[in-house]
Amino acid sequence: MLFPLPPVGRAREGGVGNFKQPMKNIGIISVGYYVPEKVLSNTDLEKMVETSDDWIMTRTGIRERRIAGKTERNSHLAIKAARQALDKANIDPKDIDLIIVGTISPDSNFPSVACLVQKELGAVNAAAFDISAACSGFLYSLITAKQFLLSGMYKNALVIASEKITSLIDWNDRSTCVLFGDGAGAAVIAPVDNGHGIISDYLHASGESGNLMAVIAEDREPLQQDTRMHILPYVEMQGKELFKIAVNSMAEAVEIACRKAGVKLEDIDVVVPHQANDRIISAVAKKLEVPKEKFYINIQRYGNMSAASIAVALCEAINEGVITKGKIVALVAFGAGLTSAANVVKW
Ligand code: ACO
Repeated sequence: MLFPLPPVGRAREGGVGNFKQPMKNIGIISVGYYVPEKVLSNTDLEKMVETSDDWIMTRTGIRERRIAGKTERNSHLAIKAARQALDKANIDPKDIDLIIVGTISPDSNFPSVACLVQKELGAVNAAAFDISAACSGFLYSLITAKQFLLSGMYKNALVIASEKITSLIDWNDRSTCVLFGDGAGAAVIAPVDNGHGIISDYLHASGESGNLMAVIAEDREPLQQDTRMHILPYVEMQGKELFKIAVNSMAEAVEIACRKAGVKLEDIDVVVPHQANDRIISAVAKKLEVPKEKFYINIQRYGNMSAASIAVALCEAINEGVITKGKIVALVAFGAGLTSAANVVKW
């Protein structure tokens, strides 16, 4: 034997991929979320930069957002969301085979947030890694985790989207600082009954347009001809250009995911979209001819939490009884990269 195998038990089953039964139906069996306590309102922002509640509300639909404290790190948010999802699923952390965290604002380059979560939860049998896909991070992570379960390599996965994106914001830049907030959402995915689960997946990336939104992490020419002094790292974004691409990409992603699922647009009960701008959501609804009332929206309370937006919205939609068993749900994301993604899920 070339390599010693881990001891027999779950570690060996998870670690060497002993779970032999290929699974046909993979679904979200529980969710959890956490947002920091500190609320930053538009009125607070009026005292920090030249802006107004009226401008922010009309242009974005955001009224307030949550901001993680100085000592509150991304992994702290992720762990709280994960614990809630695990408790709801009534699953022992030792039975989790895989942890994936979608994030662009990790505690540090390494260890990954996923490894920090693994340690804190005592999920000793899990493989763990992060995925960087900006606002599409939750769906990129969900779809990746699903493949491990479909292949039969693993049985239970914990998918988390967690962001402390406000640590990447230039608080003197009114064009970005009013948009973002911190938070985390988590989901346990596992085999589910026939006729339920994640029916279709869609992933896309357009790296050629990645310059439209980036974190400037070292001194180099900024995206725009911007002569202001900035504290590194900071987010820079060409909002107007992104707006149009976001609308087209999200509408296209829903259409493709529905086609793959064999579901008509009119059969969708609930859409959980990425929450970058209420006007983007309205435009997507119009383009798809799906009534906006079917879109679950919480941007007014949290702003854009990047990868965490869909995860938190999904959790709130379930908690509020908007998503119930049997409903057909479309999840759709768009973000920096540029990336987009969608799923159709039969609850
Ligand atoms: N308060 C007051 N005025 C402002 C503010 C502010 N906070 N921010 C910008 N302005 C001003 C601008 O300076 C500009 O003034 P000017 O006309 O005198 O030059 C004016 O308001 C209009 O600015 P625009 O940028 O054209 O405003 P727009 O209506 O496009 O809204 C926004 C900006 C909200 C950023 C919008 O374009 C948007 O949502 N874009 C898409 C964002 C997105 O999808 N990002 C990708 C996902 S995020 C991720 O991946 C992490």
